[in-house]
Amino acid sequence: MNQHIGFIGGGNMAQAIITGLLKSGRVASDILVSDPNPESRKAIRALGVTAFNHHEPVMAQADFIILAVKPQMMDAVLTAIAPSLHKSQIIISIAAGITIRGIRRWLNEPNNTVVRVMPNTPALIGEGMSALASDTTLDDETQIAVQRIFESCGQALWVPSEDAIDTVTAVSGSGPAYFFLMIENLINTGIRLGLSPDVAHKLVVQTAKGAAQMVEFSDVGPDVLRQRVTSPGGTTEAALAVFHEGDFADLIDRALIAARDRAGELSKDAP
Ligand SMILES: NC(=O)c1ccc[n+]([C@@H]2O[C@H](COP(=O)([O-])OP(=O)(O)OC[C@H]3O[C@@H](n4cnc5c(N)ncnc54)[C@H](OP(=O)(O)O)[C@@H]3O)[C@@H](O)[C@H]2O)c1
Repeated sequence: MNQHIGFIGGGNMAQAIITGLLKSGRVASDILVSDPNPESRKAIRALGVTAFNHHEPVMAQADFIILAVKPQMMDAVLTAIAPSLHKSQIIISIAAGITIRGIRRWLNEPNNTVVRVMPNTPALIGEGMSALASDTTLDDETQIAVQRIFESCGQALWVPSEDAIDTVTAVSGSGPAYFFLMIENLINTGIRLGLSPDVAHKLVVQTAKGAAQMVEFSDVGPDVLRQRVTSPGGTTEAALAVFHEGDFADLIDRALIAARDRAGELSKDAP
């Protein structure tokens, strides 16, 4: 029998994951959603998936329960679903900053498998990067099943423990914004130097895509790729010298440490 995937919360992230699940061949009848927001339910139904305005049918049928509500709703949601939780159900939270310890405390349940996932925004277009962690050892079958759910909207990998999640948040959770900033500034400067907005946009976006794909598919690292396009005395070298003068590497270090530390503070504020 097919395993059922239940979502508590049917907003943007749930819709992105469901879209991926359906594209990867899951049947709509294996997916159930609960969301009190009529707009979210309408969007879920438009995908062909059943949406309820209460959690009971989801809790009664789902093998995997994905908590896809805003972090500030987690307390209320977990307290509400706790009485209908079965021992075999696997709880998966995608809420930023909510720890597994907090989830267990709110559920008042020490035994269920709980997985914490940090996805990122490109999941909305099927190009997400999700990192998964648990406080218990999952059997291979469960580990693969959970990973497959998130691979349906991009790539997914396990990190050894939840301790890594703050760093994951700094690298890939917040990461799209760093690339947006770089792209935004490259476009703006291109325009300031005389290019039309359309041309600057196209040049920068395709260059970013091409560079990312070269890193992905090359058998050498980004440092070697950079050296290969940097001829002595050439244009790239002139630009990179300016980045080095501004201590680009140190700036990245400090930015990621700030994000990691902030993620830690936000998690501490949660129970
Ligand atoms: N978006 C991202 O890129 C991203 C990245 C990483 C992690 N996340 C995490 O993903 C989670 C969901 O984010 P999102 O962007 O999908 O949020 P969202 O679009 O606001 O979706 C959350 C949905 O849950 C509904 N909801 C509220 N109370 C509920 C309840 N008691 N039971 C069931 N559903 C309830 C909300 O309805 P109302 O609108 O009426 O409240 C809304 O439809 C968040 O915890 C966030 O931290 C998101």
